[in-house]
Amino acid sequence: MKSDALQTSGLDVDKLPVHVAIIMDGNGRWAKKRLMNRVKGHEKGSQAVTSIVRACRELGIQYLTLYAFSTENWARPKSEVSALMQLLKKFLVSERPELMEKGICLKVLGQMERLPEDVRQKACETMDATKENRQMTLNLALSYGSRQEICDAVQAVAQKVAAKDLAVADITEQLVADHLYTAGMPDPDLLIRTSGEFRLSNFLLWQCAYAEIFVTHTLWPDFTGDEFMEILTNYQKRNRRFGKVECSMPSDG
Ligand code: IPE
Ligand code: IPE
Ligand code: MG
Repeated sequence: MKSDALQTSGLDVDKLPVHVAIIMDGNGRWAKKRLMNRVKGHEKGSQAVTSIVRACRELGIQYLTLYAFSTENWARPKSEVSALMQLLKKFLVSERPELMEKGICLKVLGQMERLPEDVRQKACETMDATKENRQMTLNLALSYGSRQEICDAVQAVAQKVAAKDLAVADITEQLVADHLYTAGMPDPDLLIRTSGEFRLSNFLLWQCAYAEIFVTHTLWPDFTGDEFMEILTNYQKRNRRFGKVECSMPSDG
């Protein structure tokens, strides 16, 4: 059944992306423009997270992956890293009732062992509490780096080969995908980056092979459900060819 949000959106329910990934960038610039500390930008940014999670759930989008903290972000000033960690912890606790109410399953993608103990504990509790929820999956990419993820997958596969549980010839694209943090999930159909930067910054390099990419100049704390709808409308007009020729075009064969 179509949700109210979908009914009024004018979107085509059959052409919704199954998986949306977002590089939430521009919190620091948002704060700088207002002569505020960068942390204020992150605080405001976490409100935008709540509203986009709601929008996705209302529309019936199955997977939302948000880039919250990269492996490279550990090199930021200690005070900013610790403020971000505290915000994440707050988010992981305060969102729990809504995740439960709306049937959203939370997963963390990334090197959880690098997170401070208190953050890791809250993340585990929320993941555990929401693990049976089936309406939507919310992936938080935390201490996430795509190259690290690929290295972890290569190591896991190599170990199985060394133990003779796998033959070299068994290493297919599917097998590699099954060893990534996103194992069992479809690849993102749509990748959004805010703040006008045209780069991937080590995010889902394998999984975004055929994602449709949208860059908006809006800074993340200013990103709204309305702009998200506009991007979805635009996405539905894209012609995804996956290397083939368009079906409606005459071909030689
Ligand atoms: C994105 O905003 C949030 C994180 C990377 C944690 P930034 O903090 O990168 O903001 P800008 O890019 O400096 O404006
Ligand atoms: C990417 O943003 C990481 C997150 C949004 C969490 P960055 O601000 O870290 O990326 P660069 O440094 O501009 O490439
Ligand atoms: Mg940035």
